Amino acid sequence: MNKEVESILFSEEEIESKCLELGQKISKDYDEEILVVGILKGAVPFMAELVKRIELPIKMDFMDVSSYEGSVSTGKVKILKDVENDVRGKDVLIVEDIIDTGNTLSYLTELFKLRGAKSVCICSLLTKPSRREKDVNVKYIGFEIEDYFVVGYGMDYNERFRNLPYIGVLAEEVYK
Ligand code: IMP
Ligand code: MG
Repeated sequence: MNKEVESILFSEEEIESKCLELGQKISKDYDEEILVVGILKGAVPFMAELVKRIELPIKMDFMDVSSYEGSVSTGKVKILKDVENDVRGKDVLIVEDIIDTGNTLSYLTELFKLRGAKSVCICSLLTKPSRREKDVNVKYIGFEIEDYFVVGYGMDYNERFRNLPYIGVLAEEVYK
C-alpha cells in the first residue's frame, strides 16, 4: 500500500463487482442509446470499467470542469472542456467519481437540461451525503462514505494518486 494512504476503503475487486451491479441496473433502465458523459479526469477509470458492463448501445463523451483547489471546494464551476455531442433529445448519463457538495453535478444537470437533453441521470462511484450543499438526485451510487478525503481509482490530491487501483483515505499529514 502507498505510505501516504492511511487505509483502504474499497479494493479493486469490490469496485469491479459494484461496476457490474451498476451496469446491470443501467442496462435494465434504458431501452435506447445513451450518451455517457464522463467528468474528467477522476471518472475515467470508473467509466472505463462501468461501460464494459452496460449492455446497450452507448456513445461516450467527456467534459472537464473545475471547482476545486487542493482539498477545498471553491463552489464555482468552470467549464474547461465541453462535450462534443449535441445533447438535444438524448438520454444523458453523467459519470462522476465522487459527489461532495453537489455543486458540480447540480450545475451540469441544469446545463444539460437547458441544452434540451431528453433525460439527465447521474452515476457516481462515491457520495459523501454529509457534505451536501446542493440537492442532486443521484440515481446510481456505488458507495456512500463518511467525510474523508479519498484518493485512488481516478481520484486525486493535487493530481496525484489517480492511478491507485483501490480507493483509500489520504493520510492527514499529506494535506496538513
Ligand atoms: P462537488 O462539486 O463538491 O460535489 O465536488 C465534486 C468533485 O470534487 C469531484 O468530482 C472530485 O473531483 C472532487 N472531490 C470531492 N471530494 C473528493 C475527495 O475526497 N477526493 C478527491 N476528490 C474529491
Ligand atoms: Mg471530479
